[in-house]
Amino acid sequence: MVKLGVLGSGKGSNFAALLEGISSGQIPASVEIVFSDNPQAGILDLAKKANIRAEVIHEPRFKTRLSDDVESAVAQQLKAASVELLVLAGYMRMVKKPLLEAFPRRMINIHPSLLPKFPGLEAWKQALESGALETGCTVHYVDDGMDTGEIIAQARVPILAGDSAASLHARIQEAEHRLLPQVVAEVCAAVTRP
Ligand code: GRF
Repeated sequence: MVKLGVLGSGKGSNFAALLEGISSGQIPASVEIVFSDNPQAGILDLAKKANIRAEVIHEPRFKTRLSDDVESAVAQQLKAASVELLVLAGYMRMVKKPLLEAFPRRMINIHPSLLPKFPGLEAWKQALESGALETGCTVHYVDDGMDTGEIIAQARVPILAGDSAASLHARIQEAEHRLLPQVVAEVCAAVTRP
């Protein structure tokens, strides 16, 4: 069993898909701790309901990243909770040295586009506005760039005539909820392989 930590800023539907994957036996792991930089985030309520430790990250200085001391404290708490693999499930800040050094090749992120296309915010809107016929989602290792780390797996999603940003995002999220548990299961198997 691999010990997971999860970071998220939003409603936590990808986290819910991970919990489902764990309870169904698809993912050989347990979630030890969940952090959110947004005290209102649904992901914290989901964690509490599942009896998983849920912590708020307080970052008064920056909006797009954490201060080094705050990020170091998060890394220390993840290590103290024996976390082996860190999953960014809708975490909306850039990750810096303290976490990258604590989890080298042990941190993955889900992004709502077929990277390297449409990195950054509201990738589904970027895809829709570009006139592309398809987009998708990507799970990748995290590095110090914005959605630039090594790609592990992707799923394609069609963009349909008449799609709104909301309808396209919903279709991408369905694909995310299948892809993320699959990839986490594979990475967990690799983490435990001798
Ligand atoms: C997902 O679309 C993810 O790809 C993006 O943020 C969203 C998080 O959604 N990075 P949720 O909180 O998992 O519902």
